[in-house]
Amino acid sequence: MNVHAPALAQTQQFDEPTTVFASDVVGDLSQFPKRLSPKYFYDAAGSELFEQITVLPEYYPTRTELGILRSRGDEIAALIPKGAALVEFGAGATTKVRLLLERCEFGAYVPVDISGEFLNAQAAGLRRDFPDLATYPVAADFTAPFALPDAIEGMPKVGFFPGSTLGNFEPHEARAFLRSAREILGEGAQMIIGVDLEKNERVLYDAYNDAAGVTARFNLNVLVRINRELGANFDVSSFMHRSVYNRERHRIEMHLIAKKAQSVRILGRNFSFRPGESIHTESSYKYSLERFTTLAHNSGWSVRESWTDEDRMFSVHALTAAE
Ligand code: AVI
Repeated sequence: MNVHAPALAQTQQFDEPTTVFASDVVGDLSQFPKRLSPKYFYDAAGSELFEQITVLPEYYPTRTELGILRSRGDEIAALIPKGAALVEFGAGATTKVRLLLERCEFGAYVPVDISGEFLNAQAAGLRRDFPDLATYPVAADFTAPFALPDAIEGMPKVGFFPGSTLGNFEPHEARAFLRSAREILGEGAQMIIGVDLEKNERVLYDAYNDAAGVTARFNLNVLVRINRELGANFDVSSFMHRSVYNRERHRIEMHLIAKKAQSVRILGRNFSFRPGESIHTESSYKYSLERFTTLAHNSGWSVRESWTDEDRMFSVHALTAAE
């Protein structure tokens, strides 16, 4: 139940997505400890900053996953039946999916993303380069059940979820997502998924505390977004980025730390911050191969094959729907 909805309704009129954003922000900043959902990082500026993160020298996941997809692409392709429909959960840069599209004879490509803008940009580029590939974009929140296009009925289904976005889900959310993907893709489905691995803590720390400060800007940008979209008055320079590795919970945590005592007004409400108080903005869970295998098994999948890079930094898995 959203206890904040009546107060928001009196303050201002919002369109539907803004109302959800507003009630999530007000609700999450009313918790102790304060938090914000990482899904709100990705406005236009945040998406651009994330693209910059993916090529930082310290941020190993993107290039390592690309390396695995390139070097093991033929082995992955060998597992995929001719004429299958590729369903990608989330749209963004198309570099990774192109590696699959180039190697496999897919019957259709179905990118699924909440942002129609991303989907259209992605679909347009791919249509140019793969003119014979039938592309059916679906605008939907892929963490909730959605319907696949009728046109792919009868085709074998292959899910694609790269980037270790699974790591940004809490363990119960990761289970729910994998179960839902299993339901949506159906009997006999497969899934190709990228999962970041536990490793030396210094490497993890540096990946989320880059020297150029791009990750800090990415983290702070969520406050800029709240100011712009919800008319809030965060003094962004009074907060600082902090990322730490939480060993017990196998996760990097990103926080925004109040540099001094302050009060912020959002939609007619005051939120006070003590000096040093944190807003927990993201967790990025790191898996061992064993823990990921258990998670997959508990979520309706079995691991058919797993690939890692030489240094075991990142993993890519081919899953098959359990009977
Ligand atoms: C999108 N996601 C997998 C990234 C990660 O590594 O958890 C988001 C990110 N946060 C800070 N840097 C990158």
